[in-house]
Amino acid sequence: MAALGGALPDGLPGAVRRLDLAVLHGIAAFLGEELAGRGPLTAEEIATALGAAPRHAWIVPHWLDALAGEGLVERSASGHHGGFRRPRRSGLIALRRDLDEARSGLGYPERLTRYLLDSLRALPDLLADRVSAQAMLFPEGDLGTAAAVYRDNPVNRYLNGAAVDAVCGLPAKRRVLELGAGTGSLTAYLLPVLAGHTTEYLFTDLSPFFLDAARRRFGAFPFLRTAVADFGADLAAQCGPEPFDLVVAVNAAHNARHAGDLLGRIRAVLAPGGAVLLIETCHEHHQSLASMPFLLSAPPGEARPARLDRRAGTRRTYLTREEWTAELGAAGMPPVLDLPRPDHPLAAFSQHLLIAAPDLRGRPR
Ligand SMILES: C[S@@+](CC[C@H](N)C(=O)[O-])C[C@H]1O[C@@H](n2cnc3c(N)ncnc32)[C@H](O)[C@@H]1O
Repeated sequence: MAALGGALPDGLPGAVRRLDLAVLHGIAAFLGEELAGRGPLTAEEIATALGAAPRHAWIVPHWLDALAGEGLVERSASGHHGGFRRPRRSGLIALRRDLDEARSGLGYPERLTRYLLDSLRALPDLLADRVSAQAMLFPEGDLGTAAAVYRDNPVNRYLNGAAVDAVCGLPAKRRVLELGAGTGSLTAYLLPVLAGHTTEYLFTDLSPFFLDAARRRFGAFPFLRTAVADFGADLAAQCGPEPFDLVVAVNAAHNARHAGDLLGRIRAVLAPGGAVLLIETCHEHHQSLASMPFLLSAPPGEARPARLDRRAGTRRTYLTREEWTAELGAAGMPPVLDLPRPDHPLAAFSQHLLIAAPDLRGRPR
């Protein structure tokens, strides 16, 4: 349990819930400041009153679902909302305390508290598109905050460790493709163990910003190559015709409009005996609502593309663990490894490592 790094395993589900509620209360406070005494209002009227930029307007009903679900706003059968209350100073102090204690109980670095509080304070500007969520997560190109979110915490240490163990046990790893590789939170652990086994690690992302950073950071690994690749389109056309022994996607695959179609595209570039490694968040935690949705909006001037898979008609960002299992199975790649198990203390984070190896019998060691 070294991965827990001082966090209390028994207290994890409670701390996850406390962090969820602290962030949601922060969003309620923002709405209370702007809308106290007003109502009943539709989600569209609220988005307009908050000055939401068109590309971020989808976030308002997403928040309202969570707030109504927790009883923090009132919602009528006709879809009108009310009960907005201006926050009290004592409530805001308690919120900051809850947020920091929960963060610390979960073993996240102190930097996460700053990031979440800064995001809550910036909600008016984020929503109106005066401030970019990318600039908040990567201030002046610095990857430290993203490392706190995606790497330097118990659940990611555990998942990255389990992923490295599983990859070491795979029989074939000559050619590796990483999709949506971004800050390379798992890449940093995979490259050292792949050295000597891998002739090409193709690090891809939609954004060239991450590729420059990866070339600088991983320059010691001559088998690393970078390329812009959109996993929403044919992969062989973008990554070359030679198939891959391992395809990796860490916290990226939920960006696909259709998870099954993405898995089909991955399967199409998988070599015989190859494996797919996904790390995915599998639950809509309130704690990410002040920051992550802004990263998922369409570029300026574009509408957010609808999800076309099991999430169609919902406002969900993530697929559940059961849905990923079903999608992998439907793509002919049922998972051979799925961690953490439901009774593991870190299961409270709802982040999963899923490995599929269609031609292998049994699980990777
Ligand atoms: C939450 S970040 C995770 C990044 C990275 N895997 C990590 O752990 O640091 C999601 C990444 O997916 C990338 N992404 C989103 N949609 C994509 C697409 N259609 N094709 C390729 N990359 C995409 C984003 O640019 C971003 O870097």
